[in-house]
Formats: sequence, C-alpha cells, structure tokens
Amino acid sequence: TIEYSSLSILGISSNGIIDFITNNVTSDSVDRTIETLLCDAENMKKGWSKDGNVARIVLKNGEFLCPGFVDTHTHAPQFPNLARGQQYELMDWLKCVTFPAEERLKDTEYASVLYKEVVRRVLAFGPTTCCYYGSLHLEATKALADECHSAGQRAFVGKCNMDRHSSETYVEPSPLHSIQATEALIKYIHTLSPLPTSSPLVHPIITPRFAISCSDELLKSLGSLASKHPQMAIQTHISENAKEISFTKELFPSAPHYAGVYDMYGLLRKGTVLGHACHLSEEEIQLVKQRDAGIAHCPTSNFNIRSGMARVGCYLDRGIKVGLGTDCSGGYAPSILRTIQDACITSKILSLTPTISSQFTSGLEGKHLPISTLLHLATLGGASVCCLEDKIGNFVVGKEFDALVASVPGAGGEGRFGGGGNPGVWYQENDTLETLVERFMFGGDDRNIKDVYVCGRKVSGWGQ
Ligand code: GUN
Ligand code: FE
Repeated sequence: TIEYSSLSILGISSNGIIDFITNNVTSDSVDRTIETLLCDAENMKKGWSKDGNVARIVLKNGEFLCPGFVDTHTHAPQFPNLARGQQYELMDWLKCVTFPAEERLKDTEYASVLYKEVVRRVLAFGPTTCCYYGSLHLEATKALADECHSAGQRAFVGKCNMDRHSSETYVEPSPLHSIQATEALIKYIHTLSPLPTSSPLVHPIITPRFAISCSDELLKSLGSLASKHPQMAIQTHISENAKEISFTKELFPSAPHYAGVYDMYGLLRKGTVLGHACHLSEEEIQLVKQRDAGIAHCPTSNFNIRSGMARVGCYLDRGIKVGLGTDCSGGYAPSILRTIQDACITSKILSLTPTISSQFTSGLEGKHLPISTLLHLATLGGASVCCLEDKIGNFVVGKEFDALVASVPGAGGEGRFGGGGNPGVWYQENDTLETLVERFMFGGDDRNIKDVYVCGRKVSGWGQ
C-alpha cells in the first residue's frame, strides 16, 4: 500500500541523506510537500551544499514528491536506434539493427558525445538510478561511467561480454580478452571519486549479454570473477523470446533449462538482474526465488519486439524482487512512466486470458496490477532488485534523497497548457493526492517531471 501524506516537512542534510520527516511518512510513501532542503539554491544547481544554507522547495498545487525512478535495464549504445527497427523480432533485430549500432562505439570520441546525451535524456525522464549495458568496448564504457558520474546519476555500468554468435566485426576475440577488459572496467569505476559526502553513485556490474553470446569458457571465467566480488551486481537477459530460448537449449544441452545455464556458472545469485523473463518455467521461477535474483520487467520492449508477457503478478506472489526496465532500444523511450503504463496493460491482458486468470484466486497472479504495486515496481522494487533498498526507493529517514517533483498543472497557466505543457493531463479542483498520483502515472510523461534529485542534488528538470 501507499501511504499518502498531505502535509509534511522533509529535511535533507547537506550530504543528501533524509534527516527528518514530520508526520508519519512510511515506506512506499508519496509525499505532497517538501518544505526544506538543507542546501543553498546556487549550490543545488551545481553540486552539494558546503555550508548547509537553507533552501526551500514548496510544492504548488498539482505537484508532489515521488521517490526517484529506478530503471533496472537499458542499453546506452542503442539510443540512436530509439523508435526504429520495430518490425523485427529479437534475433533478427539484434543482427540487423542492434549490433551494427553498438559496433559504432569502437570510436571512443563518438562514445563520449553519445553518452553525454544519453545520460542527460535519461535523467529528464526521471530514473535517478539506471542499470546500463554498454557495448563490448572498454574505453567507450568507461566514458559512459564518466558521464553518469559527472551528471550525478546513480548508475550501474557494465561492459557487454560476448565472444560468439554476433557478427564478425562485433565480437570479442577471446574469453581472456573479455575478462581482462571487464576487470579493467571494474578497476576504473572504483577509481571514480565518490560524492564529497556519500558513498559512490556509480557501480560496476558484470554483464554477460546473454547465454547465446557467451562461450562456456567465458561464462566459467565470469563465474569466477563474480565469486571474487561476491557483492557485485550482475545483469543479463533471460527467456525473452521463443527462438532465443530454443537456441540456448541447443547450445547448453546439459543445463536443465535457461536459468540453469547461469546457475551452473555461479551467475544466478543475490544482485543478479534478469532482463525480461517472459517465459520462465515453474522450475526456473523456483530457482530464481531460491537464488534471490531479481527480475527487470521490460513490458514496452516485450510488446515492441513481440517477445511475450512476463507474469509479474506470479513473481511478486512468490516473493521474487521485480523492478521495471525501459530496455532501450527494444523499448521506444527511456520513460519509466511509459513502462508503468505498459506493465499495467500487460497485467490487464493476462487477466483477460481465462486459462491464466482462472487458476488463481488470491494474490496478484492473473489480476491487473494495482497502482500501488506499479509505483512500487518503479521505485522500491527496482531498488531492491539492485540491492539498494536500504539506501533509496522511498522516503525514510537515513535513506539518500532521490526524488522527482511530479507536476500535473491545472487548467490555464503560463505557456502551452501550463507547467511542462503536456496537454493530456491536468488536475481538477477537488483532486486528492491519490488522484494526482494516478493522473501522473497514467497520463504523465517527461513533461510532468519538473525536477530530479539524486542524493539531495538537483540533476535535471525544467523547474525554476
Ligand atoms: N538479448 C541479448 N541482447 C539483447 C538486447 O540488446 N536487447 C534485448 N531486448 N534483448 C537482448
Ligand atoms: Fe535488453
């Protein structure tokens, strides 16, 4: 459930940590009013307050404070392909449009220019935390980590491991080469200095692209690399599309199933982020739960490249951690709001499928997901998939202040339709906060995201 609190004061200390909250604002809370930020306005634009001057953000009518979104799955090198290639299914899509786009990142200068723009655009859509796949290139992926770091985005950045079944010109020459580059990236990201006052924002993540693109030897080496770093996050794709699944079974005849491939190599564990998971078997679902891995639900992409529909209700019923992923450019845009809307539609379509919906009477399986669950997926759910639930995901004293000022302006107002100018939503006189949140989630887009804060620092937005 969401606790709505209509008037409270939220204090942020100069190191970006939530210091105090008046009222009982509990977990999964959406807060109406942020009264005080303990940073001065000038420094807030640039960085962190050094002297703790008080600046105030008082929300206007139609505005509320939402925990920052977590995008648990996206591909930075694919952004130039956004909104293209939608006629393909996964395997052809990879070969015809995706690998050629990623190959361009061998040019490190291009990488710096592209990734600066990617991070700027992602932040404008509201993900304060983002799990990025890079390309297979070390230098380009370092540039991606640099851009996240300097923009102040919380991020996981991984270099794709792929030593087979790609193209002749876009594939790593050997498992050893792949591992060495991965180790170099981990080292590099660990040298990025943390914020002056908090723990690092940018983390390395081990990124075997998917089982098809990794030889047995590479997966084995990645497994030992992972065991050297037991806390490190891992991300990969799983059970997205029918052809992908049957090819995986062909390549790993000794594995019991797709999830079993990753498990065989020690890559299925707490902190593993499994992208898609559209067609997991009962055995696989149980294994994912047992290993405490999380799932990145990517509904926009799953519709766009016709992969399937993930049974999120079932996963949540089993206590599996689930977050949302935009999966750019399988998805059309780095928009978590769009992803929320498509997660909602996915669950509604599943609920209309009698063979699925009639089997379940309690829990979420087979039902349309409620608003509180959808908001959870976009925030605290994503945070727990990344093992950051103790740090971010909602407004609790001691957590870091990652937040959005959501804005649903009223009728009239300055400019085209007032506020950010989205003609599709506006608040009505008697709207409760609950109604406002619903309007934002289902009618909103980036124009309704006024300001974006990571760890108390303003990193994006059109406000002020
Ligand atoms: N499977 C392997 N690589 C990819 C990718 O880049 N995008 C998606 N959607 N699935 C994949
Ligand atoms: Fe993906």
